[in-house]
Amino acid sequence: MEHEKVIVLNFGGQYDQLIARRVRDHGVYCDVVPYTVPVEELRKARPSGIIFTGGPNSVFDPSSPHYTADILSLGIPILGICYGAQLMAWMGGGVVETAERSEYGNIRLRVTSADSLLFRDVPRESVVWMSHTDRIKTLPEGFSVTAETEDCPVAAMENKQKRLYAVQFHPEVTHSAFGDRMLYNFLFGVCGCKGDWQMESFIEDTVAALRKQIGDKPVVLGLSGGVDSSVAAALLSRAVGRQLTCVFVDHGLMRKDEGDIVENTFTSLFDMNFVRVNCADEFLAALRGVTDPEQKRKIIGEEFYRVFWSEIRRQKETGFFAQGTIYPDRVESGKGDADKIKTHHNRVKTPEDIEFLGIIEPLRDLFKDEVRRVGEKLGLPKELVWRQPFPGPGLGVRIIGEITREKIEVLQNADWVLRDEMAKNGYDKQLSQFFCVLPTVSTVGVMGDHRTYDHLIAIRAVTTDDFMTADWAKIPYDILARVSSRITNEVKHVNRVVYDVTTKPPATVEWE
Ligand code: XMP
Repeated sequence: MEHEKVIVLNFGGQYDQLIARRVRDHGVYCDVVPYTVPVEELRKARPSGIIFTGGPNSVFDPSSPHYTADILSLGIPILGICYGAQLMAWMGGGVVETAERSEYGNIRLRVTSADSLLFRDVPRESVVWMSHTDRIKTLPEGFSVTAETEDCPVAAMENKQKRLYAVQFHPEVTHSAFGDRMLYNFLFGVCGCKGDWQMESFIEDTVAALRKQIGDKPVVLGLSGGVDSSVAAALLSRAVGRQLTCVFVDHGLMRKDEGDIVENTFTSLFDMNFVRVNCADEFLAALRGVTDPEQKRKIIGEEFYRVFWSEIRRQKETGFFAQGTIYPDRVESGKGDADKIKTHHNRVKTPEDIEFLGIIEPLRDLFKDEVRRVGEKLGLPKELVWRQPFPGPGLGVRIIGEITREKIEVLQNADWVLRDEMAKNGYDKQLSQFFCVLPTVSTVGVMGDHRTYDHLIAIRAVTTDDFMTADWAKIPYDILARVSSRITNEVKHVNRVVYDVTTKPPATVEWE
C-alpha cells in the first residue's frame, strides 16, 4: 500500500532522524535520504512535503552540501530548517552572511506575520531553540519575513504561493515550545497530509520489504532477551517464520529464571527456530580468579561472541545476518554522524570467515519508544517490551570481585525479591532502573543466638531521563524496610542490606 510520505533531505545535521520521528508521531510516514539523492528521484517519489535538515556548514563554502535549485520548482512544499533555511535562501538568490554573534540556546521568537500558515495557533512570542552563526541577510525573490529574534532579523521566511518555508531555529527539539505545532502546521496546513500512518503500517511495510529481500533464504539473529533484539526477532518471525533462526546465548549471568522466560516466550508465541546455548559453565571457567572489572567485561564479551559465532558456523546454508540495531546505536552521541558506530556491543562486526548474504537491521531508523510500540503490536509480553536496561555483561558487573556460582545465586535471589516488592508496590513503573549488587563484602550479623559472617547486598535504584545523569530514587522507607527484611529472611547467606544513595555523577548507575 502506498502511504503519503514526507522526505527529510539530510544535509549533515544531527537531528535528521529526530525530525523524521516527529513527523511519524503525527501519523505521516517519513524517510530520511542523503542530499546526494538526485532531484529526479525525489520528484518520482511524489512526497507530500520535503524537509531540509540543518548541518554544520556554511552555504557559501563551495565544499558544503548543496542541492540543485530545481527542487524549489517541483511544486512540492518544502520546510528548510537552520542550514536548510539558509540553503533555501541561497538557492533562491538571497544572501547569507556570518553574523557577529552566534545565537545558541533558548531564544525568544516573535512572529511578525499574523496569517502565516506555519505559525497558526503559535503565540506571537515563544521560545525556540537556536544554534547558528550564519544567518539570512537578504531574502530571495518572492519571500517575506514571518518571524524574527533580537539577533536574527530573518528567523523565519516563506513564499506562500510556492509553499516554501524556512526557519532558522529547530522546531524538532522539545526546547522549542511550539515547535511541534509548527511541524504539525507544515504537515497538515501546508502539505495537506491526512496523517493516517500508524505503527501497524510500519509493521506491514517492513514485513513486506523483509520478505522481498530475504526470499527463501535463511536468516540468523542473535537474541539477547533485550527489547531491541526481541522486537527484531518478532518482526522477522512475522515476515519469514521458520526461515529465521534465533540464537540465544545463555551465559548464566541473567536475572533469576530469565533464560527460561526468553526461551518460553519465543518458542511458544512465535514461529521460528530457537537455539538456546547453555554455557554458564564455560563462562564461569573463563572468569575464574578474575577480579578487574574491565577484564571481566572483556572476557564476557569475547566468550559471548566465541560461543555465538561457533553456533552460527553450524548453520548449513549461507543466509542473512539480522541485528536489533536501533537508531541511537548508529549515532555517536552529539556528532550526528549516522554511520559511525558506538564502541558498544549493540552492533556486531561479523567475522571474516563467515559468509552472509547481507546484514538486516529492520529497526535501524526507530527510537526506543517506537521499538517498544512495535513490540507491543507484535504481541510481545509487556514485561519484555518494557524491560529495564540490562547490561550486556549481565550480573557479571553487579558482582564485585570474582564471580562464582554461589554469588550468582545469592544475587539472583536477592534481586528477585527486590523486583517482586517493587512490582507489588507499583514502583516498577515509576523508576528507570533498580537492581541488587553483591559487593563481595562479608559483615558480622546475628541470627538467633548465633554469630553470622555473610554477604552484604546493596540496592541500587535510580530515576533518569537519559542515563547520562541519574538521581537515586526516593523509595519510601517502609518499602525499603520490607525489601530488607525479605532479603535477609528469604535469601540464604545474606545478613545485611544497604541502600545506595549516590547520584550519577559522581557514581555510575552500575557499580562496575
Ligand atoms: P552506567 O553504569 O554507565 O550505566 O552509569 C548507564 C546505563 O547503561 C547500562 N550499562 C550497560 N549496558 N552494556 C550495556 O549494554 C554494558 O556494558 C553496560 N554498562 C552499563 C546500565 O545498566 C545503565 O542503564
